[in-house]
Amino acid sequence: MVDGIGTLVILGAGGDLAKRLLLPGLGQLLDADRGHDLRLIGVGFDEMTDDEWRARVADSFAAGEATGPRATAVARETRYLQADVTNPADLRRILASVTGVPALYFALPPKVTIAACAALRTVGVPKGTVLGLEKPFGTDLRSAQALNRKLIKLVPEKHIHRVDHFLGKSTVLNLLGLRFANRIFEQVWSSEHVERVDIRFDETLALEGRAGYYDKAGALVDMIQSHLLLVMAIVAMEPPSSLDADDLRGAMTQVLRATRVWDGDAATGSRRARYGAGSIDDHKIPAYDKEPGVNPDLSTETLAEVTVGIENWRWAGVPFHLRSGKALADKRQEIVLTFKDVPHRPYGFTGNPGPARLRISLNPDSIELDLNINGEGNPFTIDRVSLDVNFAAGEMAPYGEVLHGILSDDPTLSVRADAVEECWRIVAPVLAAWRKNAVPLDSYRAGSAGPTAWR
Ligand code: BG6
Repeated sequence: MVDGIGTLVILGAGGDLAKRLLLPGLGQLLDADRGHDLRLIGVGFDEMTDDEWRARVADSFAAGEATGPRATAVARETRYLQADVTNPADLRRILASVTGVPALYFALPPKVTIAACAALRTVGVPKGTVLGLEKPFGTDLRSAQALNRKLIKLVPEKHIHRVDHFLGKSTVLNLLGLRFANRIFEQVWSSEHVERVDIRFDETLALEGRAGYYDKAGALVDMIQSHLLLVMAIVAMEPPSSLDADDLRGAMTQVLRATRVWDGDAATGSRRARYGAGSIDDHKIPAYDKEPGVNPDLSTETLAEVTVGIENWRWAGVPFHLRSGKALADKRQEIVLTFKDVPHRPYGFTGNPGPARLRISLNPDSIELDLNINGEGNPFTIDRVSLDVNFAAGEMAPYGEVLHGILSDDPTLSVRADAVEECWRIVAPVLAAWRKNAVPLDSYRAGSAGPTAWR
């Protein structure tokens, strides 16, 4: 049994995040039997009876295929409180209803989270309280710093879990094993052998009714400022001594601190685009700016690319290309290390299929090593072969892993305050260049590979 958290309180329980991601992850975690014995309380602004809430929880658990005895018991006993989490009196009522030490999970828009934290300060929280917060953490560097200052007045940093579910993805975690449990890769993991690194997360999904949040974030903030920079930090970090929170997060932050937009020029180091009408898998997709709730004047991008450099001994001179977009033709979600070419290919060989590559796919979870060999057919012709392996899915969805960290009060997989601030610092020049229109907003057809000019 994991000591500590007695009650998980989901603030914003009626929302999409709780239904689609948090609750299925929680159900899987309970069924995985990692020692959590807790009560669940849902808190929302809207009216809902306990029974309606219980049915909702049971449905979400079933969606996560979590129908074991522990998940079923939690779904049967959970309670719902209607409350305004920015109101101190309501917060007192919520805290009075918990058993044992609470974990408060803010599944709420950033503005409401900030207001709720301010109200919590006037109320105070029980000793040991753990906070779980959803990205984005603030809306720029200053607001992230302000939020961090607020949070630290509520609970110590080690009890603050800034959730980035990419850190719970099994293949992202596999990177640690791949890099640090094999001697062969670490030898070539530097600017001496690596030409470039691409971290790409192309989605076929379009807006999906999320204009309220996404239209103010855009692809850069939604994906690159958070998920992809953190994945990059794991790809590029120095070998940590242990996987504990201080070692791992310290090594990640060290990378982020050394990271800047390529050549210090956000105008040449970034590109942005927005999808127009098109179709994906025979579904018609309206142009982004015609989606309900979108304000076309905001010029929100749905595809972003940023090239950064990591200015340290290991990586100086290697571009890291980060890219993410929605409504694209292919779900290409991968980390690719392209190695430098050999210094000399013996005369007499023909054919050159390009340099060796290591491709770590985040979806489906797999690793592929592209190598050059000769011997098939004409033995003096170099051909490309791929060694690949697919992984079975992790034991739980990423939110299950992340919740395990929160409920065990182990912040290893959550984002430390300074890392969040570094991520905002890295993208700040890009945001500023885009605001000044120093980078054009290109367009692409939904269901295409991106703007034609980019190909
Ligand atoms: C979320 C973003 O954090 O991650 C979404 O807000 C994105 O826009 C999602 O679609 C991608 O993660 P996953 O794990 O669902 O592929």
